[in-house]
Amino acid sequence: MTDTEVKLENCRKAVEDRIPFRPRVAIVLGSGLGDFVEEIDQKAVIEYRDIPGFPVSTVAGHEGRFVFGYAGETPLVIMQGRVHLYEGYSPEEVVLPVRLMRQMGADILVLTNAAGGLREEYRPGDLMLITDQISTFVPSPLRGANPASLGTRFPDMSAAYDEELSMLIRESAAECGFTLREGVYLQNPGPQYETPAEVRMFRELGGCAVGMSTAVETIAAVHCGFRVCGISCITNAAAGLSHKKLSHEEVAAAADEAAPQFRKLLLEAVRKM
Ligand code: 6GU
Repeated sequence: MTDTEVKLENCRKAVEDRIPFRPRVAIVLGSGLGDFVEEIDQKAVIEYRDIPGFPVSTVAGHEGRFVFGYAGETPLVIMQGRVHLYEGYSPEEVVLPVRLMRQMGADILVLTNAAGGLREEYRPGDLMLITDQISTFVPSPLRGANPASLGTRFPDMSAAYDEELSMLIRESAAECGFTLREGVYLQNPGPQYETPAEVRMFRELGGCAVGMSTAVETIAAVHCGFRVCGISCITNAAAGLSHKKLSHEEVAAAADEAAPQFRKLLLEAVRKM
């Protein structure tokens, strides 16, 4: 077994010893969106720090726990908090939680994040269904040896975001009565926000929203056999598209404001999965 496989197996055992729960859907909650766990029928919580070898966030205010429970009939594992490349974790460490949730038994992954809007018409508080991604600016989590137990060497990314799951999210937004944006998510390494010149480049490349997570997780998730879907919460216009200075506090406040809609949409969608 490779180091990755050993680490993963140790985490899997540690979780299973605490709670024998087989989720079908895995959810990663982005910054400011962690309150979603209040919407579900909770059965158990495990703090990341109690799982040996599990990456723990270094950012103040970022939570770190798995919440297990049900949305309707759907058994869920939810990540309240994730780690980011900018914290210094390797791409492989960043995606360990995704692989672990696959090993718990989940086969659907819902990734969420707070992101900057790259399109003129996007407004803070908008929710964007992720239809595709650009990961070219971050290192691949699949770099290095490829243990066959994890997935294939050269995974196909031509339909990384599952069309059927995306339809469920569209339907749920229509039922909730609000407009859902759709677009391409671009991951930038951070932790600095983009410059106006970078934002112009990203727009030119077809990016619709920019953030510091998600794309590497989607790569690992496709690799290990998840069906993936994603929602970005647009918290601000990316640099150069507004006259406002960007701050983490402002981004967090905007995520808080969009949270009620986001919670409703996600709950509706996940119930159907
Ligand atoms: Cl504008 N950029 C990045 N990279 N991440 C963000 C963001 C912007 N807004 C929220 N998260």
